[in-house]
Amino acid sequence: MKKNIEDLQTDFSNEIGKVKTAQEFEAIRIKYLSKKGLIPELYASMSQIDPKDRPAYGKAVNELRKIVEENIEALKLKFAKKRSEEILDISLPGRRPFIGRKHPLTQILDEVKRFFLRLGFSIADGPDVETDYYNFTALNFPENHPARAMQDTLFITDKILLRTHTSPVQIRTMQEQPPPIRIIAPGRVYRRDTPDASHSPFFHQVEGLFVDKGVSFADLRAIIQEFAKYLFGKDIHVRFRPSFFPFTEPSMEYDFNCIFCRGKGCKVCKYTGWVEISGAGMVHPNVFKAVNYDPAVYTGYAFGMGIDRIAMIRYNIDDIRLFFENDMRFLHQF
Ligand code: PHE
Repeated sequence: MKKNIEDLQTDFSNEIGKVKTAQEFEAIRIKYLSKKGLIPELYASMSQIDPKDRPAYGKAVNELRKIVEENIEALKLKFAKKRSEEILDISLPGRRPFIGRKHPLTQILDEVKRFFLRLGFSIADGPDVETDYYNFTALNFPENHPARAMQDTLFITDKILLRTHTSPVQIRTMQEQPPPIRIIAPGRVYRRDTPDASHSPFFHQVEGLFVDKGVSFADLRAIIQEFAKYLFGKDIHVRFRPSFFPFTEPSMEYDFNCIFCRGKGCKVCKYTGWVEISGAGMVHPNVFKAVNYDPAVYTGYAFGMGIDRIAMIRYNIDDIRLFFENDMRFLHQF
């Protein structure tokens, strides 16, 4: 019996020494170690051994099994590695790392910032979740005034709401520092609008505020006109129309010449030659009073600007919702 085990070990050593392929290796593994393999067979024949020889027999079989298992285990690594080397096809083209790009709204905002920073404006900031005081009251919206209804929004409590415009940053900035003030305040704003091609419950504005001694409507006109030329070209003109905002007096809305027909009239501008940009005006004395500026000494202008609207005009996009869906097929075009 002992002889039998020694022969088996010699056979195994010879066979395993000749293994060249993963298939040959697998065949040997099955021959010796599978359930019906030679090693389990040795254990199974224990009952035929003379009981007094069983301990020695068991010991010899255990030793053989150990040798076989160790050899198989060692080669397993080798053949497993071989296999993965076969799978690695170095001629396949690699995967290109994904490179993102700036969202079209961010690109427009960057341009707007560049223009105003160069003229000495700095950038101010305010919270999206505002109080009624900053969003309405300090901006001279009396309680129950219909102008509040025009900017209906999402209320968190009676007095806390999602800001409907960036104008509250005017108040926050003036409360923090004395005049002169020269800021732009970009940010997201919210209104209770049902989404459609031209409405979204959130969109983006840039507020502008300039306060000093002797600031006039001519200054406002000039800066808006320069901005229109900077953004869309030298032949673009600006038009002001009388309007109403509680926090400016006089108030107006301003339009740019349509950039597609350059003012001649086309489908985009509905044959008017003009596209509406936002509102503007001279800071109302009550707003100055709310922040303890003396309206007899200081004057100022303020303007709004719809970033989404400018981007829609610039890129000829007819649905505002596209900006917020994050569809890569859309975003990759800019
Ligand atoms: N806040 C106004 C709006 O959202 C725009 C505006 C800004 C008007 C500054 C006048 C001055 O409609």
